Amino acid sequence: MANGSHAYEVVVLGSSNLDLVATVERLPSPGETVLGTNYAEHAGGKGLNQAVACRRAGADTAFITCLGTDAAGETLHRLMTSEGIAAYVTDYEGPTGRALISVDEHGENSIVVVPGANAELSISVVDAHRDVIGRTGVLLCQLEVPIDAVEAALAIAKVGGARTILNPAPATQLNRSVLQLCDVIMPNQHEVALLGGATSLLDAGVSIVVITLGARGIKIVTQDGELQIPPFAVRALDTTGAGDAACGALATALAHGADITTAARRASAAGALAATKQGAVPSLPNQHDIDALVN
Ligand code: RIB
Repeated sequence: MANGSHAYEVVVLGSSNLDLVATVERLPSPGETVLGTNYAEHAGGKGLNQAVACRRAGADTAFITCLGTDAAGETLHRLMTSEGIAAYVTDYEGPTGRALISVDEHGENSIVVVPGANAELSISVVDAHRDVIGRTGVLLCQLEVPIDAVEAALAIAKVGGARTILNPAPATQLNRSVLQLCDVIMPNQHEVALLGGATSLLDAGVSIVVITLGARGIKIVTQDGELQIPPFAVRALDTTGAGDAACGALATALAHGADITTAARRASAAGALAATKQGAVPSLPNQHDIDALVN
């Protein structure tokens, strides 16, 4: 149950989507139509996925998000509660976010997100949850909600003494003012390239860059050098949500006092486990599964 005076281990601020997922033999080229082999609807959205990933990894987790006043919004809200997440939901008179996802037979995907209610997560929504953000141990954000709200939340968390983590997805150019508020930034290989490379992120004030490399594991980059975390070998069925699983496991491990190497190893395991199952939220591993793989 949401409680504004409670100090959560992790607060996640971000999007909630209903994922509409088509399975295809291969992803279509521009202008091409292909036939799908399966269709499913799952809970998703990078924010919601990461909140569930934190909770399942063992963190006392709060989630700040916006939902539409439609059936999808009700379904996603119920899911947050049933997962044991403290849900701080602002309702918006309109549609909940949707993601149109195609997954091919190698588990690779392409995703179009239609933000809906996620676009309404404003600075004033952040302000309304200042107490929750200001007391957390770790704040975890992504970029499927407006960047000015993300920046405001990072600033509040920093003043409160939290560790701040930004998953810069989907990738966009980030001002120095945002980067200076990030203790850890966790891009994939495409996102880090778009952001100008790990060195430029460190030069802008980020302390640690954790790059998720899919089947090649994770790379940690700091001013002291680089460290490669080897991958856990799995058979990938659907990589949707794998990055979110990794972000949630990393945030949880840091909230529990782990060092960055241990946290990145758990993140790598969580991402690998998520890739072995279909869907975003349905694929996110729990603490026991992660423990079993890393030990
Ligand atoms: O990271 C995976 C997520 O991206 C999906 O769940 C989809 O909703 C999009 O936000």
